[in-house]
Amino acid sequence: MPAQVVLGAQWGDEGKGKLVDQLATDADWVARFQGGNNAGHTIVVGEQVLKLHQLPSGLTNPNCQCVLGSGMVIDPWVLAEELETWQASSGESPLGKRLWISERAHVNLPFHRLYDGADEKIGTTGRGIGPTYRDKIERVGVRFCDLDSKRSDQTWLDESAARMTSQLSARGVEESITSADLKESLDWVADKFGHAVRHTGLMLDIALRQGESVLLEGAQGCLLDIEHGTYPFVTSSVTSRANASHGAGIHPGHITEVFGVVKAYTTRVGNGPFPSELFDDVGAHMGEVGHEFGTTTGRPRRCGWLDLVVLRHANRLNGFTDITLTKLDVLGGLDELEVVVGYELDGVPLSEMPANMDDLARVTCLTETVAGFPALSLEEWLDLARKANSDGAGFAALPNGAREYVEKVEAWLGVPIHSVGVGPDREATVYRA
Ligand code: IMP
Repeated sequence: MPAQVVLGAQWGDEGKGKLVDQLATDADWVARFQGGNNAGHTIVVGEQVLKLHQLPSGLTNPNCQCVLGSGMVIDPWVLAEELETWQASSGESPLGKRLWISERAHVNLPFHRLYDGADEKIGTTGRGIGPTYRDKIERVGVRFCDLDSKRSDQTWLDESAARMTSQLSARGVEESITSADLKESLDWVADKFGHAVRHTGLMLDIALRQGESVLLEGAQGCLLDIEHGTYPFVTSSVTSRANASHGAGIHPGHITEVFGVVKAYTTRVGNGPFPSELFDDVGAHMGEVGHEFGTTTGRPRRCGWLDLVVLRHANRLNGFTDITLTKLDVLGGLDELEVVVGYELDGVPLSEMPANMDDLARVTCLTETVAGFPALSLEEWLDLARKANSDGAGFAALPNGAREYVEKVEAWLGVPIHSVGVGPDREATVYRA
């Protein structure tokens, strides 16, 4: 059976969680393949609202095997907290039973978080993600399979602690790391998680060859990709389809279905150019109605119109087979909607994003205006979605302006829209008829 992938097509926070939760209900396996606890995903279990940062969404399906893949950087302390929260709400301890950690995944240590905490330029989540990937690239990182050899190697402990302390000091951070601290950290991680460390790429490959279904769960979004995003205002991993297989440890041929998740408008957190950003009442409406606050840091998200230049870029890199449009309800009540269809730089029209951030910061947006549609209450949207799905009307049930918006986005991108989100409830999704 082929693997499915869910990816963010913008700057993250597109609402991937809702789709991933739905797909995870039927999946035999769900794997994260990049990033770490910079991601945030809210799930509702009964009356409880849980915020997950590293645990894959398949957790809520008791029959699903969950993998933290080799392309990830994992903070074991945060993982332990997430597991405790999960156990308190579900009574289950999945670690080493149906939750597996790749032997090749890198360990995000207290040093990495301290170092990242001093970031002032990028507006990172401060979770130590970039510094852990930097150590991976410098080939001084600690993988889960290396815990035992590293913790018993005093020379390595001494040298690493000295390196960490001097890097912290060069960054203006006063804390120091001793070799005893480092050993204590590695001991704790090895004792707590050692029994769940596996060759997860092989496990996924075998599962796929046996006809089981695998869902690869992306974090962040295309414009935060280290290579093709708005560098340097990006995360430190490859967020694309190409890395979904690689970061999970399987070959790309396994992937045939790629869902690009697109918010009906655009948001970003952190610093960096954002051409369609709005600083007016419309932007405030999006932020307020859409509850646009980061799941991980609680920071308000910057808001702006839907940007097709961004989406074309994302589609070229990822070859989306389906688009999932989210949060369309948030645009209800606006008189007119604008969509960015191109940029202009120094009087020259551009159909692609400039790679240089000074240029991107200077582009002006070329927009098309479409009619707005009325604001409905959450209950009205939910009723509309339930009815549209049960009577087979699909998108035809959407209010006029909303339906036209969906049709336009589909035509502009040339990728079929698989579903349209019209509210936070799981059932507030209108599926294509
Ligand atoms: P880092 O991933 O913590 O290094 O942060 C780098 C940039 O990516 C910052 O602008 C963050 O706000 C952004 N970022 C990281 N993770 C997410 C996410 O899950 N959603 C949205 N933005 C994110």
